[in-house]
Amino acid sequence: MKVTVVGAGAVGATCADNIARKELVKELVLVDIKEGFAEGKALDMMQTAALLGFDTQIIGSTNDYSKTANSDVCVITSGIPRKPGMTREELIGTNAKIVEEVSKNLLKYSPNTIIVVISNPMDTMTYLTLKATGLPKNRVIGMGGILDSARFKCYLQQALNCSANDLHGVVVGGHGDTTMIPLTRLATLNGLPVANFLSEEQLQKIAADTMVGGATLTKLLGTSAWYAPGAAGAALVEAILRDERKVFPCCVSLEGEYGQNDICLGVPVVIGKNGWESIIDYKLTDAEQAAFNKSADAVRSMNEVLKTL
Ligand code: 2OP
Repeated sequence: MKVTVVGAGAVGATCADNIARKELVKELVLVDIKEGFAEGKALDMMQTAALLGFDTQIIGSTNDYSKTANSDVCVITSGIPRKPGMTREELIGTNAKIVEEVSKNLLKYSPNTIIVVISNPMDTMTYLTLKATGLPKNRVIGMGGILDSARFKCYLQQALNCSANDLHGVVVGGHGDTTMIPLTRLATLNGLPVANFLSEEQLQKIAADTMVGGATLTKLLGTSAWYAPGAAGAALVEAILRDERKVFPCCVSLEGEYGQNDICLGVPVVIGKNGWESIIDYKLTDAEQAAFNKSADAVRSMNEVLKTL
C-alpha cells in the first residue's frame, strides 16, 4: 500500500505524520512545490521512526510526481490557507488552479488512485477534482464533515463533561462557516439523545460554535488549523486502506440523493477499499432538508465561480 500527500504545509505534514504513526502504509510520499520543503519534513518525520516505532518509509519530493506512482490513495492539501477574517470561499481564485494541476499530475502516475481533497473551499475543490480528473465518482472524496463532526463532538464533550468516545454526532452540508449543518437532533451519548441532557439553548450554542470552529482557530492561530484537519484526513485514509466500512460524513457527488444533483456536498457515506461505497439516507426533517438545500445553493454558486477563473 502506498499513499501520497500533496502539500507539506501544516495540514499535509500532520496528516502524513498520523498516517506514519498508524503504520497504514509501507511507503508514504510527501510532495510540495517549495524546493526542499517536503524532503525536509519527510526527513524530520523519519527521524521520529526510532522513537515512535513505525516502519513506514516517508519520501519527500519537490514537485516530482513520478515518485508518487501507483499510490492507492492521494490526499490533496495544496493551496493557501485562510488568514483571520477570511472565509474558505475567498481562497478559490488561488486554490482552484493549484488543485486542478495537482489532481491531473497525480492521476498521470496513479490512474487507479482514490483522491481525498482537503484544500479549500473544499466542496468546490472536490467538484473541480471530480470534473478535472474524470474519475469515477466513488474515488473522489472531500474531507470536511469528519473534521466538522469531530469539532461538534469536542463542544458536546465539553458541555456534557463526558468521554468524546461515547458521543455520536454528525455534521452534513457544506464545509463553510454558514453552510455546515450540525445535526443536533441525531447526536447521542451512549445511544441516548444529547437533548436529554442539554437545553435547546445549549444545543444551539454548540451548533453555532461548531460552524465557526475553523474560524475560531484561525483567529487564535493567525492561520488555519492543522491538528484536527490532519487527523481527520488520516482517519479517512485509514478507513479506505483498511476497508473499514465506517460511516463518515464526506463530500461526495450527489445524483439525486438528499434532493441534489451535479454537486459535491457532505452526506453520510460508507467508506471502504473502493472509496465511498454508498450514501446513507438520514431522512432529514423538513427544517434540516431546507438547511441542506440552502447549503447546496451556496456551494453551487461557488462552483459557478470556477467558470470565471
Ligand atoms: C479547517 O476547517 C482546514 O478547512 C479546514 O480547519
